[in-house]
Amino acid sequence: MTTHIITERPQGAARAAIAVQGVTKRFQGFAALRDVSIDFLPGQVHVLFGENGAGKSTLIGVLAGIHRPDEGTILLDGQQVQAATPRRARELGIAAVFQEPALVPQLTVAENLALGREPTSRGLVDRRAGRRQAVEALARIGSSIPPDAYARDLSRAEQQILEIARALQGEAKVLILDEPTASLTDNETDCLFDVVHTLRREGLAIIYITHRMGEIRRIGDRVSVLRDGALIRTCPLGEVTDDDLVTLMTGRQVGALFPEIPHRPGGMALELQKVSGAGVLEIDLQVRQGEVVGLTGLVGSGKAEIGQLCFGLARTVSGRIRINGQDLGHSSPSKRLRQGMVYYPADRKHDGLVASRPARENVSLPALDRWTRAGFLDRRRERLETEAVLKRLSLRPANPDALPPTFSGGNQQKIVLGRGFTRPYGIHIFDEPTAGVDVGARAEIYEAIKELADSGAAVLLISSDLPEVINLVHRAYVVAEGRIAGEFSGEDLTEETLLPVFFTQHEKEQGA
Ligand SMILES: Nc1ncnc2c1ncn2[C@@H]1O[C@H](COP(=O)(O)OP(=O)(O)OP(=O)(O)O)[C@@H](O)[C@H]1O
Ligand SMILES: [Mg+2]
Repeated sequence: MTTHIITERPQGAARAAIAVQGVTKRFQGFAALRDVSIDFLPGQVHVLFGENGAGKSTLIGVLAGIHRPDEGTILLDGQQVQAATPRRARELGIAAVFQEPALVPQLTVAENLALGREPTSRGLVDRRAGRRQAVEALARIGSSIPPDAYARDLSRAEQQILEIARALQGEAKVLILDEPTASLTDNETDCLFDVVHTLRREGLAIIYITHRMGEIRRIGDRVSVLRDGALIRTCPLGEVTDDDLVTLMTGRQVGALFPEIPHRPGGMALELQKVSGAGVLEIDLQVRQGEVVGLTGLVGSGKAEIGQLCFGLARTVSGRIRINGQDLGHSSPSKRLRQGMVYYPADRKHDGLVASRPARENVSLPALDRWTRAGFLDRRRERLETEAVLKRLSLRPANPDALPPTFSGGNQQKIVLGRGFTRPYGIHIFDEPTAGVDVGARAEIYEAIKELADSGAAVLLISSDLPEVINLVHRAYVVAEGRIAGEFSGEDLTEETLLPVFFTQHEKEQGA
């Protein structure tokens, strides 16, 4: 006899496509999951909800053969299984798309689909068969991405859809998506949801992780809330309100998400005059001290490129960038930092963090000279001040000596943000600062932006998250096809006025 009491399944209830029972997973003694049991039903989208670091990615890592649970079992169609490797999990029909993109940019769509499963004919890779299978895999999820396009040329949404197509090759019974829309715009999200709906109708069990409240209701059938590695509640979405979900997730009531930022514009901090460069044309833009200015538009509209040009990550071909009224010419990021500008990249994995150095050093890096006297680094001060910054951003776990890859996605984002708080920069450029960040941490980031503006810094907020733009900024520019397509402030800062400007005439005609 076991001492565990297993609740009888009610008569007639659908059998779980996949289930975890009593799963515990520890990392160096720290329990990222504790005794978690969840049934995932076929033909349903099951949302996993929880704060950054709650254990969501760890749970799907256990299902997908990346992490071996310390305790507990996984049941696939009622049978106990052990997916010891990702490959074995795929063979069992568990398809997963992870938080970090995993395509090879310099390979084509077909080649990416064939990776690790190249069809061979007499021992040679059969390219034609590979291409045919690629077309089939894409058609299955209703996608028309050309198989010969290079992965690097695809939009983020197309890459995401390609990853799903790749995961679904073979007989998948379970599809796992970890924050698939974190960097997608609304209409790209629609495409992805169509794919998810199709697969749900086909009877797959879909496990879906998101921090976006609106999305949960649109797509989810059931939800499980995790907190500190423990399952708090599983229920149909109809049984909980949004407020319930946030309270279950945080264990407390969360106040207003968006702080009121008083508009007290000072001198001109950042001014672009007819700036052209890769992907953008004749950009005119102004940000004054104490102002929060939004830069929004579709993924691929050119808004990200504008941020990169400002910070010297890309070259201006023509036009001027003036900082505090001065034309400081072509520049490198290190020069820009010295000129008082700081930039927070969207892609923390590739341009954000140094994986092999502790969180603390990642934060202190751009400000080391502040703690250096006569060539010697004052390590004690560096440590004290950096730790204060990370504490303020509520880094979890609060261990500044841990390496970035050991933090959850949202906490990695906090480390990137920490860099701007180690010295008084006058101009802050954020590129999608809250992608993948939970509601609580989001409020912390918005509060930090408010403090910057209150102290007289200029903030340029590049974001695809329309509610964030509308509720936070004093003024917003919409970018479409590499140009500024509109500027809005005051009463005009609404979704209804901004959204139509996202789509250029060309796209409207195509959509019609
Ligand atoms: N390889 C690892 N080594 C050490 N600790 C880890 C490792 N992977 C995850 N953790 C820890 O386990 C906890 C759960 O992390 P997990 O990535 O599952 O969170 P999450 O719910 O997916 O968060 P997010 O919403 O930020 O992506 C975190 O405290 C994290 O720091
Ligand atoms: Mg995660």
